[in-house]
Amino acid sequence: MKIADNKLSSLYTYYKNELSLIYDESELFAIFELVCEKFLKYTKSDLKKYFYQPINQSNLINIYNAGVNLKKGIPIQYILKEAFFYDMIFNVSNSVLIPRPETEELVDIIIKTYKNKNFDKIAILDIGTGSGCIPVILKKYMPQAHLTGIDISEHALNVARSNAIKHNLEVNFIKQDIFSDPLNLNSTFSIIVSNPPYILNSESKQMEVRVLDNEPHLALFVPDENPILFYKRIIELSNQYLEQKGYLFFELNSLTAFQVRQYAIESQYFSSVEILMDMSGKERFLVACKH
Ligand SMILES: C[S@@+](CC[C@H](N)C(=O)[O-])C[C@H]1O[C@@H](n2cnc3c(N)ncnc32)[C@H](O)[C@@H]1O
Repeated sequence: MKIADNKLSSLYTYYKNELSLIYDESELFAIFELVCEKFLKYTKSDLKKYFYQPINQSNLINIYNAGVNLKKGIPIQYILKEAFFYDMIFNVSNSVLIPRPETEELVDIIIKTYKNKNFDKIAILDIGTGSGCIPVILKKYMPQAHLTGIDISEHALNVARSNAIKHNLEVNFIKQDIFSDPLNLNSTFSIIVSNPPYILNSESKQMEVRVLDNEPHLALFVPDENPILFYKRIIELSNQYLEQKGYLFFELNSLTAFQVRQYAIESQYFSSVEILMDMSGKERFLVACKH
């Protein structure tokens, strides 16, 4: 082990020596803070206070091993088995996508759309639920809603269920391939939301190795020849499963956003179809209201 002694400061020197080619200094320190919070339960000010103090052997090994895994390119969220999303911590494993900031924006759009609406019972369906981050947060902020999340991956659903239990929020998770016909759903919904796989296979060349080697390809990629297949299928499903005046919310790939909008308009299922930008100014969300 290439660490001078068992002080936190020496562990951080080890992180800097081994990881500075992968992470810049501020990213690295933020990661070190997360690791210390997880294994030592240290707040940021604890970390400052105890930076030059020794720690016990088992914590030393845990923090050292996290550094070894970071050097292998494994994302910090998979190493710590948790990720921050919206305002809660979610369990994650390498069977689920690490929840992204854009998806926090999507959830926020839904919460704000319904904030001043008077509704008693509404049913919400999340398609391709992954870690369950979307329905779990929606249940927290829309407690009177009935939430369902579906995914083709049983492993992902197990993570999603663990998140609903962890936060004591009721969500119904069902294993379902959305391309199977008919779907195993016996109700209609007031809201359908989805962040489906949307990255073109050809885009993978410009992606970070960290994402490519670790995150599930089932959650990420679509064929270049048919890049909006998930959106087309979900728009068609809206005809049957979305109630009148119900809303469809999508997270989009800006490269195919206008194709999705065109398909939604041509379906004639909706009275309005709108594209919204994300915080970096990219076409990122679609909001459509059914006739
Ligand atoms: C981009 S991830 C989104 C995960 C999560 N909703 C989020 O926003 O972090 C897409 C999800 O769709 C699921 N998926 C892929 N193909 C599917 C299919 N045919 N039917 C249902 N779900 C599918 C994947 O397993 C993955 O969890």
